Order: sequence, then structure tokens, then C-alpha cells
Amino acid sequence: MKIGVDYYPEQWDKSLWEKDADLMSKTGVKVVRLAEFAWSRLEPREGEFDFAWLDEVMRIFARYRIDVVMSIPTNCPPLWLYRKHPEIIQKGPDGSPIQTGIRGHRCINSEVFMSYARRITERMVRHYSSSAQVIAWQIDNELEAYQCTCDTCRKKFRDWLIDKHDSIANINAAFGNSVWSLEYSDISEVEPPTAYPKAWQNPALCLEFQRFSSECTAKYVKELAMIIKREIPKANLTTNTWFCENTPDFYELFDQVDFVSYDNYPPVMLPADPDEFYSHAFHLDLMRGIKGKKFWVMEQLSGPTGSWAPMTQTPRPGQIMGYSLQAIAHGADTVVHFRWRTAVSGAEMHWHGLIDHSNVPGRRFNEFAELCNTVGKLGLIESTEIVSDIAIIYCPENDWAFKIQPQTEGFYYLEQLKYFHSAFSRYGANIDIVPADADLSHYKVVVAPTMYVYDRKSAENIYRYAINGGTLILTNRSGVKDSNNNCIMQPLPTVYKELVGAEVTEYDPIGNNNQTIVDFAGNRFSCSQWCDILTLTTAKAYAEYDDGFYRCCPAVTMNRYCNGVVYYVGTICEMDFYESFAGNVMRQTGIPRLKGLPAGVEVTTRTNGIDEFICFFNNSEENAEISLPKAMFSILTGVGKDKVTLKPFGFDIVRK
Ligand code: GLA
Ligand code: ZN
Repeated sequence: MKIGVDYYPEQWDKSLWEKDADLMSKTGVKVVRLAEFAWSRLEPREGEFDFAWLDEVMRIFARYRIDVVMSIPTNCPPLWLYRKHPEIIQKGPDGSPIQTGIRGHRCINSEVFMSYARRITERMVRHYSSSAQVIAWQIDNELEAYQCTCDTCRKKFRDWLIDKHDSIANINAAFGNSVWSLEYSDISEVEPPTAYPKAWQNPALCLEFQRFSSECTAKYVKELAMIIKREIPKANLTTNTWFCENTPDFYELFDQVDFVSYDNYPPVMLPADPDEFYSHAFHLDLMRGIKGKKFWVMEQLSGPTGSWAPMTQTPRPGQIMGYSLQAIAHGADTVVHFRWRTAVSGAEMHWHGLIDHSNVPGRRFNEFAELCNTVGKLGLIESTEIVSDIAIIYCPENDWAFKIQPQTEGFYYLEQLKYFHSAFSRYGANIDIVPADADLSHYKVVVAPTMYVYDRKSAENIYRYAINGGTLILTNRSGVKDSNNNCIMQPLPTVYKELVGAEVTEYDPIGNNNQTIVDFAGNRFSCSQWCDILTLTTAKAYAEYDDGFYRCCPAVTMNRYCNGVVYYVGTICEMDFYESFAGNVMRQTGIPRLKGLPAGVEVTTRTNGIDEFICFFNNSEENAEISLPKAMFSILTGVGKDKVTLKPFGFDIVRK
């Protein structure tokens, strides 16, 4: 396990390089990410390449035994390239070019851009192909499913549609274009749905454009990945990601590379109300689930963030260290902090690194040094893995379709997953977040929230899991759309009806209004956003509504299907419901529960098949104490104890 930093030597006077490397080495930094945005320094004029400065930086780091993640700087083409080929500039929603002068304004579908991107990639890879110091390669930066509207993208989108649907007639049928006289008579009439708000566009067209854009991004990564692998077959490839408005399909994106990298900026301020929903651990589990293996954090919170928005508060004592260790507890094996020193120029100068503008290492830096030292003691858990009894299914298409057509006020796809994640986390359970076509057979519980857009393979996988005896949790807004994003003309939850053993006879999209449900044991919970009014066929009611005209109608059900048990949660509740429900499901399925965990304390368990190591992270501003069933040794302090005490954002690992 390693700690690293993002370093931009091109932004600093040469005289600082050696001093920085020296301090990094003394602090325990093992890896630096370089060259991410440095295209204009690496190819200052067309076809003239200059690696001398980077070689010098590499030599310095080599002397200090610091490894390198080399980045392909294609996010930021030099301005000479835009001037020579303005056609490579991305076009905005209305078709006009995005103004250059920031970053990321290249169109990744432009053949001209790609010829330059291929060349700089080839040059860099050839230049460093024999360097053992380069332990990984990063392709571009924070790629999105760009919704570019340039002529090339328009043409590609049209070709993509014809390729997929074969004919204009099929496209018209798939899109249901008889509505509003939208029938195409020629493929040239197809436009990307960007000029008006999505709400006014055809949802079928919007989803296809999103799929197309995501596929283009994955193809782009694949093309650069192939260039790198051709030169260095053993190269360890990644690209770094985050949750942007326009997320590509992570499964497809990372299929092209060797490991997942995540840019991890947990919010510094916790919600004022401890009951208010917060699940940062969810994002980390999702990253681990993309490839079902350990991942890297390529950028980690290091100071107050800002620049794009007013600055946030500075990380509280314990957060620099705690949030890095939290990432490790959820499956990161290298955490690279963004960034070594805060930029003194450029748009990003208020997004703070470990060292402030003054270049005087301070409180946050000292905590970082302590982190490096702590991570040095984690050798024992190096080859351990996170094995989970519980999985939650994440489907990019459901997320996209929800963004295209918001359901009710406050109802977001990802939040549905987080409610369950948070509930199971309160009992200290490991949780995997997996694609809908993952092998589910070894999970005791699978939650498939809001399976909104139908996909045959996913539905079959879910059925198979229940048939073979799994415990499945489905929720409202499942089976609503066919794969074209049109509504299915059957009682909801359509394709999942048999599993659920109940039908939705009516629904009430209540948004921010409240309803109440009462469960089989008489517990009452408030709910909002959405209420499915259910009629039972083979299921039994787990909870019923307690207000208004559908009082006494089932809201949550339980059904036996073949060897499995299927729950259906037809509404969206306050956290107490999910916690109580998760507790019951865990008891039914024999998953061990840690009871009485203090609020904010997260527990994950890592195992190497022989030993188990339990990680405790206190994600709260209060001290926390957790009693252990027997005395266990802390691998951080070497002390045996029967309780773990943690300061705010404190962390410990014990051997079970
Ligand atoms: C993103 C980018 C970084 C930097 C940070 C902070 O994560 O990848 O280059 O811009 O945001 O703003
Ligand atoms: Zn384009």
C-alpha cells in the first residue's frame, strides 16, 4: 500500500524540483503522478518534442526512489493545435464552439485531434518504454460522456443509429416518433438532443445519445490504451474518474484499462443533523465494484477546495489522514493526494494541496506525514480482500434515464442505492456494488433498486439469483421502461411482477409531501417522493400505508419465489425504516450484525482467507468507542484491547 502525490513540475521553478523530491522522500511519499496537463511543454511546436525537462524530473525522483504514474496529457491540447485546427474544438449544446482558454475542450471524435493525440501518446510511450520507474499510465483526465455537437459527432451519431437500428423506419418505431410529428424521413434530420432542456426532448433519443456519447469515450480510451500496450505490453493502465453530471458507463470505460482510479474529494463538512443522509463510503465501494478488484485513488482531498465555487472550509484535524485510510479500508491500495503544493497561478489556485502557497508545510502536511508513516505499517493487510455477503446493483442506464426524466422532487437514482448502503453499513457489513450482469450466486442478499430501464440479461440474472434461493430486494420504478426508454404497456413492475408477487394498481408521486407506513410489527415510518399502491397476488404485506385514501394498502411486500425470497419496497422512506428493514433481512439471512455502532462509525472487514482484519473509521466529529467481543490486537499500535476508541475521523485496524 502506497501514498503518493500529484505533482506538476512544469508549474514550478526548476530549483524546487530536488527540494520537493527530498521532502517527499523524507515524508514517505512513494509515487508521483506527472505530466497530466503538460502537452504544451512536451510538444511546444508541432512535431517538436521535448522530453529533456521531464527526464530530469524523473532522474531526480529516481534518486529518491519515488515511482511515477505517467499521464497522457490529451486533456489539454496546446493552443497552437486549436489555432491550426479549430475544427477539433468541442461544440456546445447550441452548436457553437466552446471557447478555448480552460481545459478539456477537445472533441475526442475528431480524427484530426486523434492523429495528434496518437502521436503524443506514441512519443511518450516510446520515450519511457524501458523505464521501470513508471509503474502505471493514466490516460487523459476525468473523462466524461461528452455531448459534443460538432459536425463529426453529429455524423457519427447518425451512423451509430443506423448501424444499431438498420433503417429510418426502425429508428422512428424505436423512438415512437409519431408523437409531435417527429418522424424522420432521412437520417440527416437526426439532431443531438442538446439544444433545449431534456424535459422537452424525446427520452428515447436522449438515452440513445447518452449511450452513444459514453461509448465514444470508452472507444477513445481503448484506442489510446492499445497504443500504450503495443509499445509496452505489460503497462499498467488506468484513467481517473469522478461523479460528474455526465458520467460515462464506468463498466465500459474501465473495461479498456487495468485498474480503476477515483478522484476522491469527500465533503469536509458533515451534515449538521446526524440523521441527515451521508454516504461517502458508497462511492468508494462503487469504485471497487467496477472491476471487482482493488482500485487507486488518483486524487485525494488535501486542503480547502475551491476555484470553481467559493472555497470550502479547511479539512478538520484527522480528515486528511482519516479519509485516505477510509479509502484503503474500502479497497484502495494506493492513494495519491491532490496535490503536493497549491498552485500559485492559473484558475485552480484556490483548490489547495498539502502545502499552501507560502510553501511552508503546516498542520495538514504534518498530518499527511503521519498518514505516510501509518500506511507503512499496513503490510499485513496488503494481500487481503473485501468479501461481502451483500451486493447492491448499480446500472448506469437507470441513472441516465432518471436524469433525462426526473420522477418527483427529491427522487434521484443514486440516492436509492445509498439508502440501502447506508442501512447495511450501520451494522458493520461489507457491501459490494456490482453491475446487473455480475455473478450474484455468492451473495446472501442482493438489492436491485429502481430497475427502471429493461435489459434482458440483467432481468434474467436477477431472476436466476432468486430462483437459486437468493434474497432479493426490489424497489419502486422497476420495469417501467423498455430498452428504448419507452413505457411498457403492462401493470408495473411489468417484467418483475412474478418475482414480486404483487402489482402496482396505482401510484402517487408525492414528491416532498409525506405519507406514513406501518410495518408488520407496528413500527411507523414516514415516507415521501413516491408511493406504489400494491395489490398482492402471492406476496404478503411487510408494511402498509397509514394515511389517506390508500390507507391499509401494501407498501412493502415479501414473496417466496422458487427457492428465493423477494422483497419489494414500493415507497421511499426515512433512514430509520431502511435500518430496521436491513436489520430484519440480515437476521433472516444469517448475516452477522454489529449492534450499537456509534453514529458515523464505519466498519469494513478484509480477509486473506486465514486472518481477518477489521477496519474502524470514525466519520464524525465526536469521539467514539466500540466494544469488541474479545481482546484484539491493533495492527497500528500493536496494543491488544477489548474496545476501540477513536478520535474524530480516527481510524484503527484490529486483527480478529
Ligand atoms: C479534478 C481534476 C484535477 C483538479 C481537481 C481539483 O479532480 O482531475 O485536475 O482540477 O479536480 O480542481
Ligand atoms: Zn465533436
